[in-house]
Amino acid sequence: MCRVSGYIGKKETLPIIMDGLRRQSYGGYDSSGVVIGKDSNLTCIKAVGKLENLEKKLEGQNLKGNWGIGHIRWASHGAVTEANAHPFWDCKKNIYLAHNGIIENYRELKDVLIKEGHKFISETDTEVAVHLIEKYFEGNLEEAVRKALKEIRGAYGFVIIARDDPQKIVAARLSSPLLIGINEDSYIIASDPTAIVPYARKIINLDDYEIATITLKDLFIIKEKVPETLELVPEEAEKGGYPHFMLKEIMEEPEAIENAIRGRLMIEEGSVKLGGLDSISEKLRKINRLILVACGTASYAARVGEYMLEEYAEIPTEVDIGSEFRYRKPVVDKNTAGIFVSQSGETADTLAALKEMKQKGILTLGITNVVGSAQARETDAGVYTRSGPEIAVASTKAFLGQLATLAMLTVYLGRQREMALVMGKRIVSELAKLPELAKDVLKSAPEIEKLAKKYKDYKNFWFIGRKYNAPIASEGALKLKEISYLHAEGVAGGELKHGSLALIDENFPTVAICPSDSVYEKMVSNIQEIKARGGPVIAVATEGNEDIKKIVDDVIYIPKTLEMLTPMLSVIPLHLFSYYVAALLGHDVDRPKNLAKSVTVE
Ligand code: F6R
Repeated sequence: MCRVSGYIGKKETLPIIMDGLRRQSYGGYDSSGVVIGKDSNLTCIKAVGKLENLEKKLEGQNLKGNWGIGHIRWASHGAVTEANAHPFWDCKKNIYLAHNGIIENYRELKDVLIKEGHKFISETDTEVAVHLIEKYFEGNLEEAVRKALKEIRGAYGFVIIARDDPQKIVAARLSSPLLIGINEDSYIIASDPTAIVPYARKIINLDDYEIATITLKDLFIIKEKVPETLELVPEEAEKGGYPHFMLKEIMEEPEAIENAIRGRLMIEEGSVKLGGLDSISEKLRKINRLILVACGTASYAARVGEYMLEEYAEIPTEVDIGSEFRYRKPVVDKNTAGIFVSQSGETADTLAALKEMKQKGILTLGITNVVGSAQARETDAGVYTRSGPEIAVASTKAFLGQLATLAMLTVYLGRQREMALVMGKRIVSELAKLPELAKDVLKSAPEIEKLAKKYKDYKNFWFIGRKYNAPIASEGALKLKEISYLHAEGVAGGELKHGSLALIDENFPTVAICPSDSVYEKMVSNIQEIKARGGPVIAVATEGNEDIKKIVDDVIYIPKTLEMLTPMLSVIPLHLFSYYVAALLGHDVDRPKNLAKSVTVE
């Protein structure tokens, strides 16, 4: 969670910027930096650690000037080093930039810029922005920023200055707060109003897609047109060598977890940093009931979230699907909060439920992938899952981003309540290991493809699981039916005997999710019920469990993790299984019939 600061005016800039950084430092930071401009000279100083370290480096420098920018960094991309601290500069040391947010497509941009000859000195996502602006700079900074922003995907609050366009700050915002304070003789910019209040009487809160050009005399704001989501199918080349986007996106599932947790885990404090919730953190302390609303795959993530939030944050939680919630007469009070989970942030049913809750005056939070989407704009606060673009109609990697975010939200709310430090540490450190464990699961892809060959001609499937993996059974079934057009049902293992068992025979295989957790023995009993009626069973079990082989037909192994986090590993083989079955059956995996990626109609 970073913070930016900027000043242009008649006073000495450095003390105002340093004060701005100090006032914004309550959320924690690990390094800092400033650039001060005098005439057309820019001087940049950065330091690792506390602001005092930066102050020591500034001592004796006599850094005078009337415009400049500053930054405090909380490491997300790259270690805590001076090279990774902001502000960054371009190859000509002309443009300097500080950033609060995340650039999701920085890898692609960086590859292109390196090929074009740009030299990078950091491991950060941010540095691409300054080189991209350099590429378009022809003497007018705001013009170059405007062109560069068209290529940047993600969230940003930028402050930017240039030696060759002096006495000017350009500020731009998308989904990261950015404010401008106005006085008779100066402008002050910050991510947080606390840094502006002592210095300005009027304040402008920049909106998404707005770019402000600030000079000594003037403040000029333009709003770029909000880009629309393209429904066009991108080029084959973007599949990165995979035959389908869906397979590429499943292979990106470890990265989706990594992106969601990057820079947000505080292992020593047994806690998480979710900057998007800062503005409502005190309100969240008073919440005593949660209603999660979502549709389809996102609703299964919400159901896993329900188990997590009740068990670890100890908040009564319920889940509803958007299409039902909007027509219910929900009983809520001011201590209820609504949490909306959506990849696209544009799902009509979920948005209608959001509107309904807002009308009742309830606090609303979004867990959303698409930056600047309707859900992200309409909720009071929220957390981006940062899963990157999901092209295939069937949602896969976004689901992993949602689960990781719900796990972090559980720690956030839990630590505000009774969750002990040791428990917080345990969850957060296990979460940190998950991307690597998820990579291990993907290694079984060839084995899962073999299983898909063996089972593809069956017409009906059960998926069963219990507790945290009951929603994963539903997700496994949904994925299989939507892309392979086979009949599949997901059901909690304990429910089978209440009716569904009647369908079991040798032609009705079951995928049973049975990791070695608190309900393992119960799952084994459910598997025995199926085997006794001749049903074939594929188990998803924990590595090292050799016994399970004695009772089922096939086993896919996943590594051990905390019970609440197992869904992030157990769902991966199910996504792969559905993919391979559908691909082997020759279906258009990325564009299944009758379905659309973003369901913007009721
Ligand atoms: C299933 C799938 C859908 C979506 C649902 C909600 O693979 O993609 O079930 O999960 O339509 O979409 P979002 O998450 O965009 O609200």
